[in-house]
Amino acid sequence: MKLSRRVLLQAAKSRWLREHAPHYGFFRRTSERFLPGETPEQALAAAQTLAESGVGAILTHLGENITDAVQAEAVVAHYLGVLERIRSTGLEAELSVKLTQLGIDFDRDLCLAHVSTLASRMPPGKLLWIDMESAAYTDLTIDVFRRARANHANLGICVQAYLYRTEQDVARLIETGAAIRLVKGAYNEPSEIAFPWKPDVDENFFVLAQALLSPAARRAGVRAAIGTHDRTLIERIISWARSQGIAKDRLEFQMLYGIQRAEQLRLVREGYRSAVLINYGTYWFPWFMRRMAERPANVMFLAGNLFAR
Ligand code: FDA
Repeated sequence: MKLSRRVLLQAAKSRWLREHAPHYGFFRRTSERFLPGETPEQALAAAQTLAESGVGAILTHLGENITDAVQAEAVVAHYLGVLERIRSTGLEAELSVKLTQLGIDFDRDLCLAHVSTLASRMPPGKLLWIDMESAAYTDLTIDVFRRARANHANLGICVQAYLYRTEQDVARLIETGAAIRLVKGAYNEPSEIAFPWKPDVDENFFVLAQALLSPAARRAGVRAAIGTHDRTLIERIISWARSQGIAKDRLEFQMLYGIQRAEQLRLVREGYRSAVLINYGTYWFPWFMRRMAERPANVMFLAGNLFAR
């Protein structure tokens, strides 16, 4: 892993930076590219704009690792309020949650209950997605997902191509017919458990995407979401899917707000499904640093904003 990526991912975990960085204008100005704002209203307005171009929206209220049940309740209450607004406006939107925001660190049953509550309040046909966090949480996340899904079919889970274990996880998840979002992985994981070389991650991503779109996965009812901005990989998957006679509308591409907008629109125009994950909220610093770590040009963009007014 490149040193700069390691440093940025380390910075993402710094409490001091998390508390102080948002006060600096250049961090705020740069983050605006990736976040429509801090409030649910701003996120819903962004979702509405995307819907007008045929792009779906998935909303995430930023925050990680809460430490008590009261905080978890507040997160659930927040999402229930957002779901109410989605219902009343008829907006086509889904949610994506982090289990560390719902209490997994201190009470797994409580976390499971919160996931179930949110799943039961999703609009018809809409999924509650569960993000995948650092490798310390992979087993826990899959366990809560499986238990919640026993009663709520409208749950989806994220898997990370950089982990060696994901091939096996995907095989097992496919058998259950789950909705699965494939991403490369955004955390700082050691080479004992994760591919250290990016080309290997990309190759594993392609192999896993093939598994998610295989006849067995389609028969099991898997909803496969390809979560990447990597245009080379997207073209490779599209051309492989074409060679297999897979219908265009079975291919769903998910990206992050503010990244590859033109590509999102192109995919919709060409008949593929496209959705954008919109993050919003005040707890944006760790998430923002992970976006910086993904692309050196983003750090230059941040540096440029140092001098902008
Ligand atoms: P890659 O990093 O190879 O980038 C390919 C190209 O995309 C770059 O060359 C650049 O053009 C563009 N690009 C990528 N990132 C960019 C950025 N930050 N700014 C500007 N351009 C950028 N991770 C995780 O561990 N758990 C999770 O639950 C999720 N959830 C999730 C949902 C969705 C919908 C997406 C799209 C991504 C995630 N991720 C995630 C993040 C994911 O693991 C990964 O870190 C990023 O998607 C970046 O990897 P890419 O696949 O885009 O490829």
